[in-house]
Amino acid sequence: MKIYLLDNVLKKISSVLNISNEKGNLMIMEYIKRNVFSGNLSIKDIDTTVHLNGWVHKVRDLGGLCFIDLRDYTGIVQVVLNPENFNHLSEIKTESCLSITGKVIKRHEDNINNKIPTGEIEVIATDYKIISTSKPLPFQISDEDEMKKVNEELRFKYRYLDLRRPSVYSIIALRSAVLKKFRNFFDSKGFLEIETPIITKSTPEGARDYLIPYRINPGYFYALPQSPQQYKQLLMVGGVERYYQIAKCFRDESQRSDRQPEFTQLDVEMSFVDQEEVLNTAEEMSITVINEIIDEFKLPKNPIKPFKRISYHDAISKYGSDKPDLRFDLELFDITPHVKNSNFGVFKNCIENGGIVKGIRFPNGAKYSKKEILQIESFCKEFGAKGLAWIASGPEDAEFAYTSPSGLKLRSPIIKFFKEEELELIIQESSLEKNDLLCFIADNQSTVHHVLGRLRNYIGEHAKLINERDLAFCWVLDFPLVEWNEDEQRWDSSHHPFTMPHESDLQYIDTDPSKIRGQCYDIVCNGFEWASGSIRIHDPKIQQKIFHLLGISEEIQNERFRHLIEAFEYGAPPHGGFAPGIDRLLMLLTGGNNIKEVIPFPKIAGGQDPLMNAPSLIDASQWAEIGLKKI
Ligand code: AMO
Ligand code: AMP
Repeated sequence: MKIYLLDNVLKKISSVLNISNEKGNLMIMEYIKRNVFSGNLSIKDIDTTVHLNGWVHKVRDLGGLCFIDLRDYTGIVQVVLNPENFNHLSEIKTESCLSITGKVIKRHEDNINNKIPTGEIEVIATDYKIISTSKPLPFQISDEDEMKKVNEELRFKYRYLDLRRPSVYSIIALRSAVLKKFRNFFDSKGFLEIETPIITKSTPEGARDYLIPYRINPGYFYALPQSPQQYKQLLMVGGVERYYQIAKCFRDESQRSDRQPEFTQLDVEMSFVDQEEVLNTAEEMSITVINEIIDEFKLPKNPIKPFKRISYHDAISKYGSDKPDLRFDLELFDITPHVKNSNFGVFKNCIENGGIVKGIRFPNGAKYSKKEILQIESFCKEFGAKGLAWIASGPEDAEFAYTSPSGLKLRSPIIKFFKEEELELIIQESSLEKNDLLCFIADNQSTVHHVLGRLRNYIGEHAKLINERDLAFCWVLDFPLVEWNEDEQRWDSSHHPFTMPHESDLQYIDTDPSKIRGQCYDIVCNGFEWASGSIRIHDPKIQQKIFHLLGISEEIQNERFRHLIEAFEYGAPPHGGFAPGIDRLLMLLTGGNNIKEVIPFPKIAGGQDPLMNAPSLIDASQWAEIGLKKI
């Protein structure tokens, strides 16, 4: 995993710290309180006496002198202790807490360490105290290369030690700065920050709920919120008009590298707005906050630009995904009409059975051997493809089966099945160039798009089409309101059941619900869904109709959503909002690909917290208290 060492975050944080020396050196408990931070020392401090507090990052015995790298949250400074002046230096263990008094001197030119900001100076200790000592460590936190090899469960079990690493600390500090910036943005626009309940009732966002037994009436349960969705809508009915919250959300769903059971949303809602106004607010917020962060902390990212807008339909058809990675332009192309009468049975039969044939160009992919192309085929099969058909226009020394009138030479096991005009149409449709590899998938529409969407990301990475500095944000608009759930033979919301349909599509509600587009939108960045939102239904009749479409009976509507329907009967304003994932943004900003790294205390596989050892068993009296029996 690649995470940037965010030196600039630490630099920026330490620059605002300034300890006054005026009050003298207060003795607090049994150690001398610091009058300066380690990371702030520089040549300007030469010849001054300093008091430092911090942790022993490294300790080494060299040429009869003891060298300590002393670390506090601003950085590291080298301290030199002469054994002639001290008796028990061997008692100083790594990661113990020390207080040091000493004199700052300039390092000899040969000893300057350009790898740390304080590398031009060192502190000659005149006194030291071990404030608290450390046991032998479970891992060497000062060695970043070694830390990459440490088992994740062990690292998160000792997360408090892991957090001491400057590379980890800088991410958590960045997280704090990002949250502050979002707050500043919304405060400046007159939004209220409002906390909504955590112990509440189920909110349908598509995942399983975490439930809490109700002690007073056994058999009843609270649920932890999957999002503050219903409360924020009720706030709009309550006349709040502009709300935001840094909201904890809880979803009992299988974990992935971009998903945690407990995560943080920046939840936003506004009244008397249409979709355009919500999109503008969200986009202004994103560009302002993210560009300020990139600039202030000198993150290795290019400033973000106004968001491209793309419909769900176009996203799927051009990129094979509703979360397209737009750091590169590559688009899928459709050859269905060009090959429907060809002699290639795989394509012809698929089209005759209602399927399609689409392809993608792999720039410079013609260099791959047949064996390597088989590996690409296996990749496609993992996502449901039945096979992969291909045509290569190189390499130079290959045996070619066809040369086009424009001089492109083609290599492929399937050339023999196509007439010259068919090949020419394929060349045109794909914008084929010398040394490219064309990959084709024939199947039903959804499989073709799913496989080629995955293959597109694979090509982006392997053909090196991605600039790691880019954050390519886009809007994906007009999702279908509902999706058919084949297993349960019913319609599911593609966002959530409170999404307002496009008025002009309401005519399809009884005939073809798949045609109804929702007034909903996602913000996508680099292939991740970053935010999601919609204009909400505020008319109780439309809400009931949508519940009905989703197969939610009147009885269940009353039981689960009566409060919302009733609230809409008291003059509900038109409203809409959105919610970006804070953890996902931090992941994008830090260049990592694992959400756990940007969360102070994350859950590992199975939703477990290895530090607190949760979940854990409860004792007999607790079982009795909540009125439940073990089975
Ligand atoms: P949605 O369910 O799409 O929408 O969530 C919004 C954003 O929250 C983040 N997110 C997650 N991050 C980490 N781990 C998870 N398990 C996880 N699930 C979601 C994503 C996602 O885009 N109430 C609506 C929003 C609205 O309509 O206003 C909602 O929760 O970044
Ligand atoms: P077959 O006739 O099954 O031997 O397939 C001939 C070639 O077409 C092989 O390279 C297969 O991988 C490829 N192929 C098979 N099925 C598909 C499909 N659905 N889409 C694209 N290529 C396919």
